[in-house]
Amino acid sequence: MAGPMLEIADLHVAYGRVEAVRGVSLTLDPGRIVSVIGPNGAGKTTLLSAAMGLLPSRGTLRFEGDDLHGLDVERRVERGLCLVPETRELFGELSVLDNLQLGAYARHLSAAARRARLAEVYDRFPRLAERRAQRADTLSGGERQMLALGRALMSAPRLLMLDEPSLGLAPLIVQEILAIVRALREDGVSILLIEQNARAALESSDFGYVLETGEVALSGDSKALAEDERVRATYLGGTHDE
Ligand SMILES: Nc1ncnc2c1ncn2[C@@H]1O[C@H](COP(=O)(O)OP(=O)(O)OP(=O)(O)O)[C@@H](O)[C@H]1O
Ligand SMILES: [Mg+2]
Repeated sequence: MAGPMLEIADLHVAYGRVEAVRGVSLTLDPGRIVSVIGPNGAGKTTLLSAAMGLLPSRGTLRFEGDDLHGLDVERRVERGLCLVPETRELFGELSVLDNLQLGAYARHLSAAARRARLAEVYDRFPRLAERRAQRADTLSGGERQMLALGRALMSAPRLLMLDEPSLGLAPLIVQEILAIVRALREDGVSILLIEQNARAALESSDFGYVLETGEVALSGDSKALAEDERVRATYLGGTHDE
């Protein structure tokens, strides 16, 4: 399909009278990983929430050419948009398997399609297969993030929006999670990756945006951004040699 998968232009999102996203423009082409980095309070989560339809917004918001403003959250899910929130939002008292099954719910997949997705998720996350009967609230942080991702994959997403998947995880687990994210891209899933871990995000994405106080301060090829003096100084620890 020609044209961008997600097209955001001059988007504004406000909480009451306070604008948290102020004229953001962002494009995501199919099959790409696009990262959005920036400090606490920059508006990253707000941007994702608006794209998912959880918050009203004004400006251009298009998915495969169609205006998303006319579609509620449920319709956006049906189109293949999927958000993994920062809070992961797992059902702690339910098993790994039940959490995964719930992920397929909103897309109205057939039983056969659900079984196929489940096999695929277990294939991608052997740890979840081993722990399928375990309660979600007894999983480790890394396993919880895997479950959140696995549950998202159950909905056969076309555009996966991840809000800080590395949050609270040890560096090795972060690498593991991001390797899975990159593998998803190989399978044709497009990904919008929100991260405070700028280094990990830029290493894993094709294109990046730096969001500061609700506005895009910088954008570019992820490799170029990682070389940028301002990005290095502010987001990569300020070292010039590594
Ligand atoms: N429900 C809300 N009501 C009012 N203001 C809010 C609400 N949610 C967020 N904000 C404000 O909007 C701004 C952007 O918040 P947002 O959560 O989008 O930032 P963020 O970039 O995701 O930050 P973090 O990296 O800490 O997750 C902040 O100033 C925040 O205080
Ligand atoms: Mg956030």
